[in-house]
Amino acid sequence: MPMRTNLHRLHVESSAKAPLKSGSKGGRRWPQQSWRPSLNALLLWAHCMGLICAVFTFAWVIRFRGGLPFIAHGAILADRSDLIFNVHPVLMVVGYIILVSEAILVFRGVSGTKSYKKAIHLTIQAVGFWMAVFGIWAALLFHNAKGIDNFYSLHSWLGIVTVSLFGLQWIFSYAIYWYPGASGKTRAAVLPWHAFIGLIIYCMALITAETGFLEKLTFLTVNGVIGKFSLEAMFVNSIGLLLILYGGLVILAAVLPRAS
Ligand code: HEM
Ligand code: HEM
Repeated sequence: MPMRTNLHRLHVESSAKAPLKSGSKGGRRWPQQSWRPSLNALLLWAHCMGLICAVFTFAWVIRFRGGLPFIAHGAILADRSDLIFNVHPVLMVVGYIILVSEAILVFRGVSGTKSYKKAIHLTIQAVGFWMAVFGIWAALLFHNAKGIDNFYSLHSWLGIVTVSLFGLQWIFSYAIYWYPGASGKTRAAVLPWHAFIGLIIYCMALITAETGFLEKLTFLTVNGVIGKFSLEAMFVNSIGLLLILYGGLVILAAVLPRAS
């Protein structure tokens, strides 16, 4: 019998009630072995890509944007409040997106009891959430220091909605799967939705980060700070592409069938 993911269970359960017309019985299945990527290889690639995204993000703010407030260098900045802004992309990418990705991968790559994995999963998600809150606070501090309006952009709206949904998902999941904990039947029924909604919120976080990079580059090029084809612009575009690749690997690992 083929092994399925939570998302597959959701799909198969719903298609059992309303069979597909196309003649396909029970919806799509992951092909057997030969066309299915190896989970271990996928996890390795995903972790490496996360590391690369982290290194590139640090490299961008340190090499091109003058650094972080506590490790500032270079003379390109007239005002130290610019350094406060740099905390924002670092916390959002390294502290939030990468931590959340690793938390999602815990059920695939970490061995141990189910409650051990759950404890790691929920703890890393909580740390990621607070990193995101501090990251948004850094952007707010920067805006206030410069007298710029807050929460006017699509990026900021997406960011607020994403982090709020993430916080709600965490609270509900904690109550259902940890304390006080729902009945086994409810936990099983909610699980496909938990994974599905979790991955949607994860995609929203990736989109928010992409719009953030785009917005920052637009400010820098429109104000003539850097050229459209400058090394920095190409570097930031590359971070955007790498982040999407990373997200794709994490999502694929989460929806692949697993051994236990
Ligand atoms: C999931 C990741 C992210 C979230 C949730 C997020 C959220 C936010 C929020 C809520 C604001 C508004 C702050 C205010 O108005 O005072 C903001 C501002 C900003 N963020 Fe992000 N951000 C993320 C990632 C990034 C990244 C990777 C960059 C890349 C540089 C970035 C660039 C900016 C810029 C330029 C602003 C100021 C302009 C504006 O308000 O849109 N963000 N972000
Ligand atoms: C907002 C935060 C959260 C997000 C985005 C999230 C996301 C996910 C995702 C995508 C999966 C599927 C992973 C897979 O099938 O490999 C998953 C599984 C799971 N999550 Fe979460 N989660 C969050 C918070 C929590 C919390 C607080 C708990 C409480 C213990 C929890 C408990 C679980 C459990 C029990 C599973 C299923 C593991 C299994 O199938 O063996 N999650 N989560």
